[in-house]
Amino acid sequence: MALLPILRYPDPRLHRKAALVTEVDEAIRKLISDMAETMYEAPGIGLAATQVDVHKRVVVIDVSEDKSKLFAFINPEILDRSGEQVCEEGCLSVPGIYEKVTRSERVKVRALDPQGEPFTLEVEGLLAVCIQHEIDHLDGKVFVEHLSQLKQSRIKARLAKQARITA
Ligand code: NI
Repeated sequence: MALLPILRYPDPRLHRKAALVTEVDEAIRKLISDMAETMYEAPGIGLAATQVDVHKRVVVIDVSEDKSKLFAFINPEILDRSGEQVCEEGCLSVPGIYEKVTRSERVKVRALDPQGEPFTLEVEGLLAVCIQHEIDHLDGKVFVEHLSQLKQSRIKARLAKQARITA
């Protein structure tokens, strides 16, 4: 396993649309285990391949308290959604920024597992938020892009300032 470097917003590579995985092979399974290690180490509750500069439709999520419930989604697709919830979100690519985003309360997701087998899952609450957030990454969208232009400019200014301080 290996830790992977995480792209930071507003890196333009975060806006690339990830390609479908055509074959679930050892390379994909290695990517999933490296992504999981990177997510746990950060620490975070979700990571999309886009964030580690791999533009394939792969996501890992673990919203459990004790990091015991890892989900891997290959080619995830939302089949159905209902309700609405507002959750304060953060992102490993946008460190230190937490903002409220409105998303669906419940989603039904179809994906492939690490053996290449299809499965569907109906989820709600935090896990539903997380899946929507990560699928956005695969489509080249960062959560702050759900906010107003004014808020986005403020966030960019704050991140630029942070970068100057740490440089
Ligand atoms: Ni994120």
